[in-house]
Amino acid sequence: MADLFQPIPITRTSLTDSEIKSVLEPLSSGWLVQGPKVEAFEKKWSEFTLSKHSLAVTSCTAGMHLALAALGLGPGDEVIIPAFTWISTANVIEHHGATPIFCDINLKTFNIDVEKIESKLSSKTVGIMPVHLFGLSADINPIMKIVEKHNLWLIEDAACGFGATYDGKHVGHFGSAGVFSFHPRKAITTGEGGMVTTSDTSLATKIQQLRDHGAVVSDLQRHLGARPYLLADHIHAGYNQRMTDIQGALGSAQMDRAKDIIFERRGIARMFDSAFSEIEQLQTPFVDHRYGHGYQSYPCLLNLSGNVDEINSKRNSWMELLQSKGISTRPATHAVHMLTYYSQKYDLRPEDFPNAYRANHCSISLPLFHGMTFDEQELVISAVQSTIPSK
Ligand SMILES: Cc1ncc(COP(=O)(O)O)c(C=O)c1O
Repeated sequence: MADLFQPIPITRTSLTDSEIKSVLEPLSSGWLVQGPKVEAFEKKWSEFTLSKHSLAVTSCTAGMHLALAALGLGPGDEVIIPAFTWISTANVIEHHGATPIFCDINLKTFNIDVEKIESKLSSKTVGIMPVHLFGLSADINPIMKIVEKHNLWLIEDAACGFGATYDGKHVGHFGSAGVFSFHPRKAITTGEGGMVTTSDTSLATKIQQLRDHGAVVSDLQRHLGARPYLLADHIHAGYNQRMTDIQGALGSAQMDRAKDIIFERRGIARMFDSAFSEIEQLQTPFVDHRYGHGYQSYPCLLNLSGNVDEINSKRNSWMELLQSKGISTRPATHAVHMLTYYSQKYDLRPEDFPNAYRANHCSISLPLFHGMTFDEQELVISAVQSTIPSK
């Protein structure tokens, strides 16, 4: 097989031997679908994030879809989201026939600009979906004030939110629900996978049923119950968004290292912050005492002279140079309003959300992952210091 990875990839999955072995248990036991391992993973997730309910699903996108279905999102509704996020934040709204209303971001944090949210409200607005991008919580308090004042719901896109705290509280249960991702670019990974967290018991029950074809009891409950030979009733036209027990075993095993993983990521980020503090052209991730950063990645902004398109061309040349030195980088994420589907459907121009446009064109994520060796960190630092484009 061709080598898929650069010497220093943007991320590298780091699993211990016992985590790798954990997937053999469900394979040997024969119970492969959502079962005891998924239940154990959900329990550990709830303990770690202090959530009342955690429900494992097939991806963050699937979890957001289920949460919106459970809240009854439908045609004619509008939901406010940041313009700079992964496309699925918008897609899940589209899939319910509703309209995503883009809001610009704050360039310091890459998160939704809370000052701009109220100007996006209309009589059709039903909810807000802030994103805790790259492991940094959105500025939740002012958002909650808007939510309460206008009687809206809030779903947190916490795809990258593992380890992100706001005023000491883990993200994922400020609103009606929070949804996390376990894609391999995330600190805890099950290959594909997601987790919905909520404090609302009736919402949790509905999401639990919707992920399992609308069934009133899960397969595991039925098998462990008094009459396993009878099938369950189905009270919704649900979906199949169940996580397998193979993935559940892997996630559950990694949760035993959850604190260490975050500690290590924060340590690497501190190294980078201090090494790059003198480089004026490079804005490093936002640090503030109210926020605990999970460092899903290490997103920076290039501040160079010239317009956004000129900086974009310098950034791309710099990325190419780093790539030639064996160091992978990526744009932090994309501005969704600039992607063909959304720009055409809603007639949007890049300048409609100037900060998202700038972030799309001038951001760069550097490699940061737990398990990154000291030598690898040093290589990234020296390559950045020696090749950074001049102002
Ligand atoms: C902000 C954001 N939302 C949603 C997703 C989708 O997550 P998943 O791939 O688990 O569906 C991602 C994935 O990277 C993301 O970064």
